[in-house]
Amino acid sequence: MSANLATVSYIGATILFILSLGGLSHPETSRRGNLYGMIGMAIAVIATIFGPRVTVGGYAWIIVALLVGASAGLYAAKKVKMTEMPELVALMHSFVGLAAVLVGFASYIDPSTPLEGAAKTIHEIEVYIGILIGAVTFSGSLIAFGKLNGKISGKPVLLPGRHWLNLALLIIVIVFGYCFIQAENTDAGMIPLIVMTAVALAFGVHMVMAIGGADMPVVVSMLNSYSGWAASATGFMLNNDLLIVTGALVGSSGAILSYIMCRAMNRQFLSVIAGGFGAGAPSAKPAGDAAQPEGEVTPVSAAETAELLREAKSVVIVPGYGMAVAQAQHTVNDIASRLRAKGCNVRFAIHPVAGRMPGHMNVLLAEAKVPYDIVLEMDEINEDFPDTDVVMVIGANDIVNPAAEDDPSSPIAGMPVLQVWKAHTSIVMKRSMASGYAGVDNPLFYKENNRMLFGDAKKMLDEVLAALGA
Ligand code: TAP
Repeated sequence: MSANLATVSYIGATILFILSLGGLSHPETSRRGNLYGMIGMAIAVIATIFGPRVTVGGYAWIIVALLVGASAGLYAAKKVKMTEMPELVALMHSFVGLAAVLVGFASYIDPSTPLEGAAKTIHEIEVYIGILIGAVTFSGSLIAFGKLNGKISGKPVLLPGRHWLNLALLIIVIVFGYCFIQAENTDAGMIPLIVMTAVALAFGVHMVMAIGGADMPVVVSMLNSYSGWAASATGFMLNNDLLIVTGALVGSSGAILSYIMCRAMNRQFLSVIAGGFGAGAPSAKPAGDAAQPEGEVTPVSAAETAELLREAKSVVIVPGYGMAVAQAQHTVNDIASRLRAKGCNVRFAIHPVAGRMPGHMNVLLAEAKVPYDIVLEMDEINEDFPDTDVVMVIGANDIVNPAAEDDPSSPIAGMPVLQVWKAHTSIVMKRSMASGYAGVDNPLFYKENNRMLFGDAKKMLDEVLAALGA
């Protein structure tokens, strides 16, 4: 393939990636968005393999790498459950970071393109920054992976004077960066490069260890952004325009997603981006500081739930992590269809951080073929709760916790939540009185207009569906 054809293919792939991101912004167009992304990636890989940079001797290596990568990807796609997706994503970010580190070292010691003067300095800066971002992304993502799958405790580890420690690490990185640029030859430059890599790895571990479990969604999307910038830095090192643009797309879309999630969880975006975030994070607080809910809960049976639903003119369904665990989305759709057939106004309310990954609930509801037009975002539906007869909360907890609004000492104070308690009646479906992801009690359960339907969401909803009748 000629250099010109490779360039044209790269531009085509870039356009497809942009269209892909655009498509992914709405459930109705997301399939098309995925397709654009797959075609774009196929074009990018083919244009790179058959482009002018790869010699015939390299094909054997590429085939082996493709086979290993594709088998690992296929295995993960088949095996990994939807609820384990965030940790898989974190693991994948770590691979991008590791790749940036390895490419950085390879590019530094590569003797094939000796550079002089300013070009040499620019290349060395690219290598240094690329390895720095890559190493932080690599170790930070591994810790995020460990925290998300429970191998590492979700509690924030706060070292004394940790901000000073971070500052010291930053100074070391700058000083060794200067030594690296001044180094006379590759051997002399290797020492500052290795020291900086070790410091960056330590910084990644330190930054994510200090973040509490409830704040992990923001961290994962922030690491997603870092992985994009690491890929972009790799593009600079390899002089590959497509990698620079694609990395920048991932980096900036990850940053935008982090910002949206910060807003949804009432966090400061800048303090997250700067890392070292979570010292004062709510999850670090002992739960005992928050006001304890008082009163008794009112349990209901599936038959009583069906009765309440049958009487209702308007119903809002709030899905959460428990619906994903129970895989209850198909039964939820059956119940919604049955109520709609009887003329009831049924809608779904989606909180931006419901479940365990962005868009988690939208994906499950789309899989169950719930019509998109009755699936509403938090801001679109929050005002409608006072006019709603029944709200069915299915395996959700933190996202409907009124303490976020009423109790300034609550660990989730300030997080915008779905105001389900304003409805005429709310029914919370869960197996026990256990807390949700943030580990805090939920005063909603004790409210007078709330009912608790205890049990596995799928089992209980099957019973509700049966009780609703044809
Ligand atoms: P959670 O607050 O985690 O509550 C889920 C509830 O589901 C639990 O209280 C649990 O209670 C119940 N449950 C679990 N399995 C169930 C089953 N089989 N049947 C019925 N109920 C079941 O979930 P949420 O309200 O969706 O809030 C999400 C939380 O996760 C937020 O704190 C958010 O910050 C965090 N988070 C979000 C993300 C993203 S990006 N979405 C990523 C990581 C973390 P029982 O044990 O009593 O059944």
